[in-house]
Amino acid sequence: MNSDTASGESSIPVLATIPEHVAIIMDGNGRWAKKRLLNRIKGHEKGSETVRSIVRAGRKIGIKYLTLYAFSTENWQRPKAEVKALMHLLERFLKKELQEMQDNNIRLFTIGQQEKLPEKVRARLQKTMALTEKNNGMQLNLALSYGGRAEIVRMVRSVAKQAVSGEIAMDAINEDVVARNLHTADMPDPELLIRTSGEMRISNFLLWQIAYSEIFITDTLWPDFSQEEFFNILKEFQNRDRRFGKTNT
Ligand code: IPE
Ligand code: IPE
Ligand code: MG
Repeated sequence: MNSDTASGESSIPVLATIPEHVAIIMDGNGRWAKKRLLNRIKGHEKGSETVRSIVRAGRKIGIKYLTLYAFSTENWQRPKAEVKALMHLLERFLKKELQEMQDNNIRLFTIGQQEKLPEKVRARLQKTMALTEKNNGMQLNLALSYGGRAEIVRMVRSVAKQAVSGEIAMDAINEDVVARNLHTADMPDPELLIRTSGEMRISNFLLWQIAYSEIFITDTLWPDFSQEEFFNILKEFQNRDRRFGKTNT
């Protein structure tokens, strides 16, 4: 056993390759709560504790970018009370975790439609991003009101505007230009994508960026996802043969 179950902290495994960018679809909070006959909100609360534990684990292991899918463009269609609770939880999380981010040299960033978030959440986000801007230990990207399709539409508009104004020639539009006009501009693509709770789908997450990501889907519900399981996935990731369409002989 290499885990300290009391604190939830697991000892760091020896890894030959550490992915620079890991993206996680944090799914299963509702089912976790339902299994316990609790309100879905309780599942989200417990899920936010997992966020803290996995952010710590990512930092310990030396991941440079950790992108967490926290709220999708489609999630706005959930019942009002749930959306409200999620926004409140997010605000509380940002407030509570600021010191931890500073102590661990973590920079907070957000991808998605920031303008759609409630004013209070936006203000707290802006503040946290500004205060942690110079931290370079790990970048924590929270995907909030994020949708891969909305991101692509936004990119197309931005590139079209540059083309119309003559800032960029039509023939100069290439994959780099596209990547630079996404929310994830200047970040490497995730080498690893994890989804909890067993669903075999992408749910509109990072559509462009995951072209060659290694995908791991675990049945574990997000509130039960542990540092130990995260480390085991990272160990397994090293055994994947990433060919990128080529042959490896
Ligand atoms: C993930 O858990 C959190 C968000 C999408 C905000 P869910 O709330 O989707 O949990 P399930 O899928 O209903 O179990
Ligand atoms: C994906 O989970 C979005 C987040 C984890 C924020 P959902 O629970 O919203 O996705 P579907 O509905 O199962 O596709
Ligand atoms: Mg879900």
